[in-house]
Amino acid sequence: MEQRVRASWRLELLHMTLIILFWNGVRAQIRYSLSEEQKDGAVVGNLAKDLGLDLRSLKERGFRIVTTSGDSLFTVNQIDGMLNVNGKIDRETVCERIIACIINLKIALENPLEIHYVSVEIVDVNDHAPTFPEKEKRLEISESALPGARYQLQAARDPDSATNSVQQYKLSHNDHFRIEIKDRGEDRKMPFLVLQKALDRETTSRHKLLLTALDGGRPPKTGTMEIIVDVLDVNDNMPVFTQDVYSVTLKENVPVGTIVVQVNATDMDDGTNGEIFYTFGSDIDSKLLKLFDLNSNTGEITVIGPIDYEETNNYDIDIQASDKGPVNYRLTSDKSITIKIIDVNDNAPEIEVTSFSSAVPEDSKVGTTVALISVSDLDSGVNGKVLCYITEDLPFRLTPSSQDNIYSLVTASSLDRETVPRYD
Ligand SMILES: *[C@@H]1O[C@H](CO)[C@@H](O)[C@H](O)[C@H]1NC(C)=O
Repeated sequence: MEQRVRASWRLELLHMTLIILFWNGVRAQIRYSLSEEQKDGAVVGNLAKDLGLDLRSLKERGFRIVTTSGDSLFTVNQIDGMLNVNGKIDRETVCERIIACIINLKIALENPLEIHYVSVEIVDVNDHAPTFPEKEKRLEISESALPGARYQLQAARDPDSATNSVQQYKLSHNDHFRIEIKDRGEDRKMPFLVLQKALDRETTSRHKLLLTALDGGRPPKTGTMEIIVDVLDVNDNMPVFTQDVYSVTLKENVPVGTIVVQVNATDMDDGTNGEIFYTFGSDIDSKLLKLFDLNSNTGEITVIGPIDYEETNNYDIDIQASDKGPVNYRLTSDKSITIKIIDVNDNAPEIEVTSFSSAVPEDSKVGTTVALISVSDLDSGVNGKVLCYITEDLPFRLTPSSQDNIYSLVTASSLDRETVPRYD
């Protein structure tokens, strides 16, 4: 990057003789312009000229910078009297977070001995980008968190000073979050992630956001951190049966263990909040409990007792699907299962003789009623339809009456006791 950032050096010279002159009301002050991160040897200023020294005498008078360590960030040239940069000066290395970075130099000459105190202020250049302590931040936020909830994030650091340090934060576009900055002073701006719209785990269980820190340089330098928000579930969804209507048919007399139907409900919540168990409705008829079993895990309804069409031909069974959320926050759905029982031909017709004259005079007229017979069959439909007939070579016949299933047994021809005294 072009190093044309404006910077200034300020040299303050306090010559011993100047101190004396100062007492006489005279003071010298010199200003230079130069940038941080200069090339090795870059000229800071003409020290000899500013101090009013004779160039020809610099070498023999030992014109130099006095240091205790032997190293200095600057050198003086004994030929031209210039103050030069020694190596490269990085303000952040020399001064770290001190905002006003001032380096004091002691310049000496001998014969006669002169000491000049020179102060150089190094002005910052935007040579660092903001960086976050971590590349990725993970947060877990409940879907019940209310808008306005705040989550503190780690601030980005930028070793540059003043406006060259972190000035603002930007968050990638999203509906649920925005960023807020709390100014802590001393160039410390704390970012907070603020929930602005409630989360719904069932819609989006993870949000990926990008936080960008910008410094105040022109153009600004940036650093980024990814924020991953995992949405924690709350039990906010009811179980839902996968079918609207459960209507099945079942033959009577099926063996115990026969599966009638398997119900199924699902729940969009996570973990136990989404696990389902099935129960009969609380108001269930105790007779049903002797005939049907409901497997609480699988939702299978099986036969456990005798199913008799002739007793009941239709069952409505209330069942419930509940999730396994926290006991007081369980959600439940109801369903009614209709079971139609289909008749099988399991009942024999029954014959009842309602009135019977055991003796018939042989001179009775043809068509005399001997007995009234009613027949019945508990089965339904054709299974319950009864056909009646009697042995054909007898002098009797059955005649249907106006009522269903009632017949009269009448004589079909004249009888003769002397030929046949008894008929079975
Ligand atoms: C219940 O329904 C869900 C969703 O349709 C399906 O994934 C699951 O396998 C079903 N369970 C049974 C036991 O049929």
